[in-house]
Amino acid sequence: MVNTQEQNGFFWQAPKADEFYRKWRDDRLTAAEAAKSTGFVEISDLANPSKAEKSELIRRCKAANLALYEVPDSSDHRAELRDFAESFGLRIAEKHRSAGGDGIVALRESDAPSQTGYIPYSKRKMNWHTDGYYNAPDDRISAMVLHTAQPADDGGSNQFLDHTIAFIRLMDENPDYVRALMHPEAMTIPPNEEGGSYRPASVGPVFFPDAETGEMQMRYTARTRSIAWRDDPLTREAVAFLQSTLEKPDPMTISIRFGKGQGVLCNNVLHDRTGFDAKAVEFSPRVVYRVRFHNRVEGS
Ligand SMILES: [Fe+2]
Repeated sequence: MVNTQEQNGFFWQAPKADEFYRKWRDDRLTAAEAAKSTGFVEISDLANPSKAEKSELIRRCKAANLALYEVPDSSDHRAELRDFAESFGLRIAEKHRSAGGDGIVALRESDAPSQTGYIPYSKRKMNWHTDGYYNAPDDRISAMVLHTAQPADDGGSNQFLDHTIAFIRLMDENPDYVRALMHPEAMTIPPNEEGGSYRPASVGPVFFPDAETGEMQMRYTARTRSIAWRDDPLTREAVAFLQSTLEKPDPMTISIRFGKGQGVLCNNVLHDRTGFDAKAVEFSPRVVYRVRFHNRVEGS
């Protein structure tokens, strides 16, 4: 793998398809291909992963920005998720209005007043995005865990794509696309005032370096309402190209329907969700715990 210093010079100054880039590109594509078939890392005690389990998760996150894991027993693992995260040096971002005191959000269909009308708490599909794309620059989400406590009866699968692969597709098509999406004003999410809380406009790049490590992070949503892309032809073309790449979907996309006790640890890669339990009369039983972090998985 190429070293971070080289990488930082490449990405954040002037990305070009030189020898360094070609090596990095090959490494990322090889890892993304492997990640599609490598399966789950089994973790016997989620609160206290063994050295071997930990190093395998970190290795996968370093190579492909995500690692799938599963816990063999079928109990509810919410109480273990904090310790699990701490094993990877992760700092929980607790500000989310639906996070409990433990910083964990239970994504489930809900008619609670604070959650009504929000797609994550419905049975509806969610388009491609990275988490926290509307956050302020000092509140970015660099990693997250999604842990399935209870699958839907029908549907509710996810797709994941390492965001470095999206970067590569854009570079392959036109390096100017990447430059347009690295612009500090590439994507604006207008302010939001709902339920008595105010969130200011979020303005920033799509691709940017993680503040602590310089590794590539991505801020993106495929939504088309309440979003303003920088008003320039290259940005518009780049966004259209990215959207069509994700919709195809890209051959490196991991498509998965998690069972109970299965989850993903990732450096906030691109992901989506299909709708689920559309025919259910009652609330869907699906429960997914989401924990978000301000830093990347340690060592990845
Ligand atoms: Fe998400």
